[in-house]
Amino acid sequence: MNILGIETSCDENSVAIVQDGRKLLSNVVYSQVDLHKIYGGVVPEVAARSHIEVMIPTVQEALDVARLQWKDIDAIAVTNGPGLGGSLLIGVLTARTLALIKNKPLYTVHHAMGHIYANFIDWTQNEKMKMANDGWLEPRFPIVALIVSGGHSHLLLLRNHFDYEILGQTRDDAVGEAFDKVAKVIGLPYPGGPSIERTALQGNPRAIRLPKAKMANKYDFSFSGLKTAVLRTVQDICGVSYDFPSFKLAERLTDAQRADIAASFQHVALEILVDKTVMAYAEFGTASVIIAGGVAANMELRQKLSAALPIKISYAPMSLCTDNGAMIAALGYYKSQISTPVDPLFLEVDPSLQM
Ligand code: KG4
Ligand code: ZN
Repeated sequence: MNILGIETSCDENSVAIVQDGRKLLSNVVYSQVDLHKIYGGVVPEVAARSHIEVMIPTVQEALDVARLQWKDIDAIAVTNGPGLGGSLLIGVLTARTLALIKNKPLYTVHHAMGHIYANFIDWTQNEKMKMANDGWLEPRFPIVALIVSGGHSHLLLLRNHFDYEILGQTRDDAVGEAFDKVAKVIGLPYPGGPSIERTALQGNPRAIRLPKAKMANKYDFSFSGLKTAVLRTVQDICGVSYDFPSFKLAERLTDAQRADIAASFQHVALEILVDKTVMAYAEFGTASVIIAGGVAANMELRQKLSAALPIKISYAPMSLCTDNGAMIAALGYYKSQISTPVDPLFLEVDPSLQM
């Protein structure tokens, strides 16, 4: 069964075709990073406009790369939330229109759940990805899943497809958001995750002591205190008061200070993620542990978690960790096996869609 997946919830416009939730036939991603870089973060109106411009060419390219025609597509899956309203709207309207005019069943996908399904794609069948990565570990249920991105920090226990429990989630900022905001304060380019990871290589992870939040539910996360602690540290280092404009702080830091702050922040943020994931594995003794979402692209996270667990962890190649249509098509396949399609005439976006 060939599913065409459409993802437009934030700043990546992506369309992919996946066979039976497993075989990657194409995955076209138009990233808007360069558009948003100058503002230091995603500007929702700019994102929505860019989605409009590239949406139809992306759909066509996904078909061309897979060497398929519309008659070969069995269903369409689309992210209907959570995400930016204007961005979601472009993907959902496109999916609704295509479902109607091409007469295809339409399925909706929760963006964060979609991230998990990147791990179910057998990317070793793709020559390019195979060359760049070291083996695919197919997840087996039950699974502990850590979803970490710019919008989500969730720890889940999955007993089977669609049978899961949310063990914990963030009470304030997502961890990727903390990476992005810390990067901005110390003057590193957007997106913050990769630039912090790169800069941290030159720094001392124990140079600065930063706090970890204590949570009532041991599996919950909180990153806003950590983010503020970094801001206060930078203000102290620069010798300015708390009301000094934060956008002027970065120019007062030396490269060495910047690297130490990046390394110390990353060290604590990743330690929080690793400790909670290890705790969940110890409690539930699952067959697999998977990491998903943009932050799962972090090599240090992969290494630290691998070292702390007695089993190998599952993660997708970089291009399937950050937002992509393939994960949406993969989850769409499993949804098509258990549920009826939605009515394309009445599908709405839901920017705050709950799991
Ligand atoms: O999954 P994603 O593409 O979009 C959302 O669903 O939010 O994740 C984007 C987030 C950004 O916050 C970005 O800074 C972070 O993932 N990210 C990373 C890395 N690569 C991307 N964070 C840490 N280390 C990385 N290497
Ligand atoms: Zn995402």
